[in-house]
Amino acid sequence: MGFVDYAAEGQVGVITINRPKALNALNSDVLTDLAAVLDGVDLDQIRCLILTGAGEKSFVAGADIGQMSDLSIAEAAAFSKQGNDLFRRIETFPIPVIAAVNGFALGGGCEISMSCDFRICSENAIFGQPEVGLGIIPGFGGTQRLARLVGPGMAKQMIYGGRNIKAKEALRIGLVNDVCDQEDLMAKAMKIAKGIASQAPIAIRQAKKAINEGLELGMDDAIALEEKLFGDCFETEDQKYGMAFFLDKNKEKVKEPFKNR
Ligand code: CAA
Repeated sequence: MGFVDYAAEGQVGVITINRPKALNALNSDVLTDLAAVLDGVDLDQIRCLILTGAGEKSFVAGADIGQMSDLSIAEAAAFSKQGNDLFRRIETFPIPVIAAVNGFALGGGCEISMSCDFRICSENAIFGQPEVGLGIIPGFGGTQRLARLVGPGMAKQMIYGGRNIKAKEALRIGLVNDVCDQEDLMAKAMKIAKGIASQAPIAIRQAKKAINEGLELGMDDAIALEEKLFGDCFETEDQKYGMAFFLDKNKEKVKEPFKNR
């Protein structure tokens, strides 16, 4: 598909933004292609996604500055909405999405990584929201997600200063969960994704929902939401099997894969 590749490896799907000549910058076509790839993910088979960028230099170097340069106020707001709608879809996608950040994650690149469940990155990764240097603000959710992830003080310092940070600082402030050598990045992402894919899939989906939706609520409503989603895990085949396996004293048995039902 145009600017986005998709490959399934067992129960893990790998989405690769593939526009390396422009450092994988996001224009409307890339956003449209990404949405189409998400539409095509077979949720009966795939239990975790990895999002990465093609090449060794850049994850995504931002929204396409060439495309944005002549936009009117209304066109710019519509472009922002196209990105925001897509990123919200990634954020609320039923299964986890891991960002494997393999280089520049600037502007829209930092923003798309933040719409994923969590981020791991290579040593050469650079994160930042440099938009104010272009006379604009982050428009694909950066003002909201960065502040929620690293706290408003750090987000404001990064956004107001247009200051890019290296992988180690991203790790220090909690923007990424892990940093590794570039050649190990995809293997590491795949190992994490396969670990997630091996757990009970309905439980994983409910956990994602509970964390994401609970964070938007006050604590009383959030724990009520957890109670509901906890309850919904019960009477599933996977819950019955997972608990029966634990309680079975015949430790010779090998645990079977969860069935997603
Ligand atoms: N949009 C369009 N094209 C881009 C791009 C972007 N965001 N980032 C890089 N490119 C293109 C360059 O124009 C260049 O194309 P040509 O070869 O045709 O000239 C190619 O990618 C390679 O880039 P550089 O030659 O600049 O590579 P470099 O190694 O010297 O620098 C870089 C790398 C520091 C990432 C630099 O490209 C850069 O600063 N890019 C822009 C980063 C940025 O400002 N991102 C935020 C965009 S605004 C945004 O994202 C708004 C939003 O929230 C919605």
